[in-house]
Amino acid sequence: MTAVVTGIGGFLPPRRVTNDDLSRTLDTTDEWIRTRTGIRERRVVSGGLSTGALAVEAGRRALRSAGTGGVDAVVVATTSPERLCPAVAPEVAFRLGLGTVAAFDLTSACSGFLYGLATAAGLIGSGTADRVLFIGAEAFTTLVNPEDRATAPIFGDGAGAVVLRRGEPDEPGALGPFDLGSDGALADLLAIPAGGARQRSADGGPGHGAVPAADWYLRMEGRPLYTQAVERMTQSARAVLKRADRSVADLDWLAGHQANLRILQAVAEELELPEERVAVNIDRVGNTLSASVPLLLNDYAARGELRAGQRVLLSAFGAGLSWGSTVLVWPGIPAEPVG
Ligand code: UT7
Repeated sequence: MTAVVTGIGGFLPPRRVTNDDLSRTLDTTDEWIRTRTGIRERRVVSGGLSTGALAVEAGRRALRSAGTGGVDAVVVATTSPERLCPAVAPEVAFRLGLGTVAAFDLTSACSGFLYGLATAAGLIGSGTADRVLFIGAEAFTTLVNPEDRATAPIFGDGAGAVVLRRGEPDEPGALGPFDLGSDGALADLLAIPAGGARQRSADGGPGHGAVPAADWYLRMEGRPLYTQAVERMTQSARAVLKRADRSVADLDWLAGHQANLRILQAVAEELELPEERVAVNIDRVGNTLSASVPLLLNDYAARGELRAGQRVLLSAFGAGLSWGSTVLVWPGIPAEPVG
């Protein structure tokens, strides 16, 4: 039994923030952000929109693309959950009218989509579910310090979703082997110190001791992360191609996590993959963590650039550290523009 992609959807919040908008309040420029990251603008939640609502919209579109009104499980990958408890997935399932199906969240930052795909495929492979709605949804800009020029320009909000069904390994859309990995020794390179159990117990609990304001926000060491991202994504791509008995020459597209255009270009160079086969939408959305790869796939499919029968390598890297890759032949499924 193999998990097969049978629907795709995406959703972006309407509020658009350009680099020039940011440079009005931050010590930065459009030129710096564009040349160092490839980002021109990002979407940001506003007006009460949050992770759950983004997930519901992307999920609705993925179900429509799959032509189905029902699934056996809903999995949401997010690093910006609505609340510490409970998971948002049950609420998303409820709001989509999917009934009392299995529903849970999964956290793996920017590699959340790859870890989630493997998990959802596992639910199908084990016979637990025939159909799974899997959504990567993030309102991560709410966790980034708006006064920190090192992180505020990089992230954006959004959600991307796929529906997986049980199928055969040689069908278009069948997920290939996975390569997943982590390195917890480097966990502090990208972390939000406060808000979890460690910070609470160190404080003696709510109301005991003040948490420095900066600790509620993301801290990132960009340079070492950059090096790790290039190394890990390259190694992971090579590992999964080997497992799938494929070579770089067989690939039509690299759909890599959109953290930095220069990272994607460096990975392509390491792999000797021509740059025109690197899918890119970071210019319009920024880094949307676990929503990044499905938003990219949806975007390319909706514009007819990612076509049925093309072979695509999905690869992601992020906090944890964590990374993952898989391959698939793109299926002939409808995709709506996300706007
Ligand atoms: O999502 C997965 C995990 N995340 C990543 O993979 C991120 C990986 N890292 C990166 O993408 C890059 O390291 C960044 C885009 C975050 C930063 O680019 P960089 O080329 O590594 O810049 P830097 O942090 O080394 O900073 C270079 C200079 C510094 O000034 P000095 O010390 O040379 O005078 C920074 O203070 O650029 C300065 N700088 C800025 N200047 C204008 C940093 N941020 C900004 C800014 N605007 N927004």
